[in-house]
Amino acid sequence: MHLSDKKATLSFSDGSAPIDFPVYQGTVGPDVIDIRKLYGQTGMFTYDPGFMATAACESAITFIDGDKGQLLYRGYPIDQLATNCDFMDVSYLILNGDLPNAAQKTEFDSLVTHHTMVHEQLHFFLRGFRRDAHPMAVLTGLVGAMAAFYHDSTDITNPRHREVSAIRLIAKMPTLVAMAYKFSQGQPSIYPQNNLSYTGNFVRMMFANPCEDYQVNEVVERALDRIFILHADHEQNASTSTVRLCGSSGTNPFAAIAAGVACLWGPAHGGANEACLQMLEHLQANGGVEKVGEFMQQVKDKTSGVRLMGFGHRVYKNYDPRAKLMQQTCKEVLAALGLEKDPLFKLAMELERIALEDPYFVERKLYPNVDFYSGIVQRAIGIPTSLFTAIFALARTVGWIAQWNEMLSDPDYKIGRPRQLYTGSAVRDVAKRR
Ligand code: ACO
Repeated sequence: MHLSDKKATLSFSDGSAPIDFPVYQGTVGPDVIDIRKLYGQTGMFTYDPGFMATAACESAITFIDGDKGQLLYRGYPIDQLATNCDFMDVSYLILNGDLPNAAQKTEFDSLVTHHTMVHEQLHFFLRGFRRDAHPMAVLTGLVGAMAAFYHDSTDITNPRHREVSAIRLIAKMPTLVAMAYKFSQGQPSIYPQNNLSYTGNFVRMMFANPCEDYQVNEVVERALDRIFILHADHEQNASTSTVRLCGSSGTNPFAAIAAGVACLWGPAHGGANEACLQMLEHLQANGGVEKVGEFMQQVKDKTSGVRLMGFGHRVYKNYDPRAKLMQQTCKEVLAALGLEKDPLFKLAMELERIALEDPYFVERKLYPNVDFYSGIVQRAIGIPTSLFTAIFALARTVGWIAQWNEMLSDPDYKIGRPRQLYTGSAVRDVAKRR
C-alpha cells in the first residue's frame, strides 16, 4: 500500500484540537484511513457493526468492485479464469500470485493428487456421527479433526508446515466431502484415483460404487470445476474473516479452516444455495410460475420474514459476475442431461425477470448472486441439497488457506481483537444476599 498525499482530519464539536490520520491507497478500490492511533490519541473507538466501512487487513489476493459487478483473482477477471482455466490453475494462482506455467501446473497437479487420501482412522472418526447428521456438521468436525491426524504440519511459524497443510487441506477436502456423503447414504467410501483430475476424482468419489466401473461425465466434471472456480475466494467475506480472526490467535490451520466451514454454514452466507433451492422447490410445490407474483408480494412485505434467497449481496450492488457464469453453466448442464424443461430453472428465470424489473429490487440494487443458479446445477448433477454448502466449503478452502497464509506473512499481523460500545450497567454492588 502507498501513503497518499491526502490526510484525513477528524474534528470535534467540543473545541478539542483536530487530529490528522494517514490515508493509504491500494492498487484499485477505495482508499483507507489508518485509524490505528485513534484510541491512543483520543480515547475513542470507531463504531462499525457488520464492518460496513472497515478494512480489517491489507490483501493482494482478490478484488471486488461491487458497483461494476467485477471480481478479480490476483488481477484476472473471473470470467476469463472461468473460461480459460481449470480449478487447479486457479488454486495455484490464488496461493502463489500467478498462473502456473506448464511445468508448474504438472507439478502442482501431482502434488495435490498425491495428498488426496486421508488417514484411515478418519473413517472411524466419521463413523461416530449419526447417519442423519447435516453434512456441514460432519465437515466442521472432520476438518477440525485433521489437526489430530496431521501433527507434523501444525507449526504455523514454519513456512514448510504452512505449505504442507495448505496442500493437505485442498487435496483432502473433496475426499472428506465425498466420505460424508457416502456415509449418509450407507455406502462405502470410494478411495481417490490418481489418474483423474481434481474435479473428476471428486465426481467419482461421490457417485461411483465398488461394484461397477464408473465413467466420469465430462459435462458434469466441467460444471463442478466451474462451481469450484467461482467459489474459490471472495476477499474478506464472513467465513474468510472468521478464518483470519481464528487464525490470528496462532491456532493451527485445520482449526482455523474448521471455523471458516462453521461460519459458511449460515443461510446468509454459504447456506444460501441450499435455502434458495428449498425456496424454489417450495414455490414449485405450491403453484409454480403461476404463484410467482404472490410470492414476490410476500418477499417485499417486511413483516413476512420472507427473502428472495439467492438475491442481494453485501458488496455487489450490480449483477454478481459469478451469477452470469453460473446461469450459462446451468443451461449447458440441463441441456446435456436432457433436462431443458426443468421446472425449477423456468421458475428461477421467471423470478429473476420479475425481480430485475421490480422497483423494490431495482431501488435496493438487489441482483441475483452466485447461489441463485448453483443449486439448480448441483441438483441436476445429482448432488443432494444438504451437501451444497459442503461443496462451497471445498471450493473456498483454497481462498481461506491463502488468506490465512497472507495474514501470517504480514509484518503488521496481530491477534484480532475488536472493541465495543458498552451499553450495559455501570459498575454496581451486589446487595447482601444472606
Ligand atoms: N429479498 C428481499 N429483500 C432483500 C433481500 C432479499 N434477498 N436482500 C436484501 N433485501 C432488502 C432488505 O430488506 C433491505 O431493505 P430496506 O433497506 O428496506 O430495509 C435492503 O434490501 C438491504 O438489505 P440488507 O439486509 O441491509 O443488506 P446486507 O448487505 O446486510 O445483506 C444479504 C446482504 C445478507 C446477502 C442479503 O441480501 C440476503 O439476505 N440475501 C438473501 C440470502 C442470500 O442469497 N445470501 C447469499 C449471499 S452470497 C454468498 O454468500 C455466496
